[in-house]
Amino acid sequence: MSLDTAEPTLETLGWVGNAIDGHVRLIDQTRLPTEFVRIDCRDVSSVWEAIRSLRVRGAPAIGIAAAFGAVLGGQKAGTGDLDSLRRGLLDASAYLRTSRPTAVNLFWALDRIERTIEENRGLDGPTLLERVLTEARAIADEDKVMCRSIGRFGAELVGTGQGILTHCNAGGLATADYGTALAVIFSAHSAGKAVHVFADETRPLLQGARLTAWELQRRGVPVTLICDNMAAQVMKEGKVQMVIVGADRIAANGDTANKIGTYGVALLAKAHGIPFYVAAPSSTFDLSLPDGSSIPIEQRDPREITQGFGRQTAPEGISVYNPAFDVTPAQLIDAIVTERGLIRPVDAKTIRKTLGPPRSS
Ligand code: MRU
Repeated sequence: MSLDTAEPTLETLGWVGNAIDGHVRLIDQTRLPTEFVRIDCRDVSSVWEAIRSLRVRGAPAIGIAAAFGAVLGGQKAGTGDLDSLRRGLLDASAYLRTSRPTAVNLFWALDRIERTIEENRGLDGPTLLERVLTEARAIADEDKVMCRSIGRFGAELVGTGQGILTHCNAGGLATADYGTALAVIFSAHSAGKAVHVFADETRPLLQGARLTAWELQRRGVPVTLICDNMAAQVMKEGKVQMVIVGADRIAANGDTANKIGTYGVALLAKAHGIPFYVAAPSSTFDLSLPDGSSIPIEQRDPREITQGFGRQTAPEGISVYNPAFDVTPAQLIDAIVTERGLIRPVDAKTIRKTLGPPRSS
């Protein structure tokens, strides 16, 4: 498939065909920016592998992929015997929960799938499978709507001609479409605000360089790529007027887990008097956690640091620490942009007021 930079929207992932013999199709993000390739996942383990290896990544997109993945588990069990169908769906859900630990959207989406299975006990097999697929599709469709809404609310924070720094990729590729932090930027750009983005390359897996720079460029948003360790200098030179990033899990008090390096960027923003914003849908909040100290942080393969992208860049046998996320304390966050509006100040009371009572799962 060729690289089509004129296409305004991204179908990051979706379901092809019907419930009985359809499958998941997703952009293989490990191949970007040089190759734009969609792959088909026809069983649960290939969806699990796609999530684990970051072929599909970004909190909302992971949840959507897992929801569709559960349908594949039901397919394999078959619709003839209701008990084995239910077991197939639930086993797939349990397995997909083990793919990555930090983004709560994964667990939120699978909770919805499991609730759907529970609430439709009276249905026959084919209708139940169809109903689960409908729920997975709803999760994807709702995400698209939430992203657009985040874009609209967040654009109010952006002034004309501003420099905006972002970290990792919270764009269309990380969601069903359009993104969270990048939705704010796309929306401000479309409104003619003449923004200029500084994209941190985002070590070790370069989501900023490979994905954010690519997404902004294809939409015609002016963007300059910097190495992560250049952010302080770029801020000191007065080139950045706001920072906006996505989130993988936000605790009840607003502490926010996002890609490793985000915490450092928040500290730099504070030191330079630059507002620091997070953009995330309500599905990224985990109100069962009082603060960020209990957010599970994924530890990834050391080879991502020592042999990233096929070349050895550290001595054989070196000890490596590779946490994929860090937690930015709420006090460093000036506002959280959600599909329901801005959370400002970022504290437990304002979060509850904006999101409503806690979900029961
Ligand atoms: O490891 P990744 O690429 O899945 O990490 C993604 C991020 O940290 C994103 O910023 C986050 O998921 C928000 S996506 C809208």
